[in-house]
Amino acid sequence: MVTIAVTSESSDEPRVAASPETVKKFSALGATVRVEAGAGARSRFADDAYRAAGATVVSRSEALAGADVLLAVRRPPVDDIKALKPGAIVAAMIDPYGDRAAIDALAASGASIFSMEFMPRTTRAQSMDVLSSQANLAGYKAVVDGASMFGQALPMMMTPAGTVPAAKAFIMGVGVAGLQAIATARRMGAQVTATDVRPATKEQVQSLGAKFVAVEDEEFKQAQTATGYAKPMSAEYQAKQAELVAAHIKLQDIVITTALIPGRPAPRLVTKAMVESMKSGAVIVDLAAERGGNCELTEPGKTIETANGVKISGPLNLAGTIAVNASSLYAKNLLSFLDIMFDKKEKVLAVNWDDELIKGTLIAKDGIVVHPNLSAKS
Ligand code: NAI
Repeated sequence: MVTIAVTSESSDEPRVAASPETVKKFSALGATVRVEAGAGARSRFADDAYRAAGATVVSRSEALAGADVLLAVRRPPVDDIKALKPGAIVAAMIDPYGDRAAIDALAASGASIFSMEFMPRTTRAQSMDVLSSQANLAGYKAVVDGASMFGQALPMMMTPAGTVPAAKAFIMGVGVAGLQAIATARRMGAQVTATDVRPATKEQVQSLGAKFVAVEDEEFKQAQTATGYAKPMSAEYQAKQAELVAAHIKLQDIVITTALIPGRPAPRLVTKAMVESMKSGAVIVDLAAERGGNCELTEPGKTIETANGVKISGPLNLAGTIAVNASSLYAKNLLSFLDIMFDKKEKVLAVNWDDELIKGTLIAKDGIVVHPNLSAKS
């Protein structure tokens, strides 16, 4: 019988790696899920709901002791991993480019460590794509929070007492989060423009009813990598882009920035001078805060107000602020991923180490770091 441990996250992480729904599905696969008491509380999953779905609700050490699999949201403590069965499977958002010493320590535990952020962006892996499931919610929440901070109406309203103008929203970076931010801002009635460096985004922006604003030169035409991500842009392109953004941003009410380049600090798209040109009462929500921010003035984890009355928010875990939804989707991502490791007839784990999704996400095995994106220990 395969045993799966699910533990409580640290105080700054409200999400949880299993939901009552996924526990039920794991039970159907023949696994036993041991959930640490209270693990789902901040996602509104009660211990009783886990029990009703077939889990045992126990202490942290009982959940971990000798388990075959540990599911977590953030990188778990090494001591937790050491309590598992030797060579156990660990799946979490490991933050693979973060603290290298911590990654080496995880590897040394001898467990097979899977970093969910490395899930290939393929059709088959869509249901396991944690970056998408969480970014989508973050894009939504950024607009909701931005609208609340804005303190003015978003839709145009024509009333006998006069007309309320539509708010102008500008979405910078049109990946998963940006697309949801556009859709949400449109639903709330804002007038939406958006920018990106990947040409494929132009049509996506337009199909959502927003206007595309970008420097569309030769470099723009080449800006998407084979894996669908943006390339770092040249200094020349950045200068042209800054000129365009400077002219546009001073008219905006709500700016949502989401631009990222894998494995690098977030590109700086909004300078101090641009913020100074914005209207009093305007709002910037910088979703790239975790990676340094797209705006020069962003203070990660804080909301500040500039001397000219612009509020800048740099949330660090926006998906976690709608933990019920974020945990439900993340738990489903993990369920879909683990499903490919199960031999359903024998009800045992049978990992195909040559599977592209296994190879793509496995960062450490048998004591060593194995992922090609993470160079060997120096
Ligand atoms: P991301 O979080 O890495 O970046 C967000 C956005 O910022 C991207 O659209 C990127 O082009 C943009 N960006 C980067 N530098 C910029 C700059 N200097 N100025 C303006 N914008 C800039 O992207 P995300 O959301 O992870 O999506 C990456 C790609 O993966 C997209 O092509 C998306 O369509 C694709 N994708 C494919 C999936 C699948 O086929 N299963 C699932 C999810 C995403």
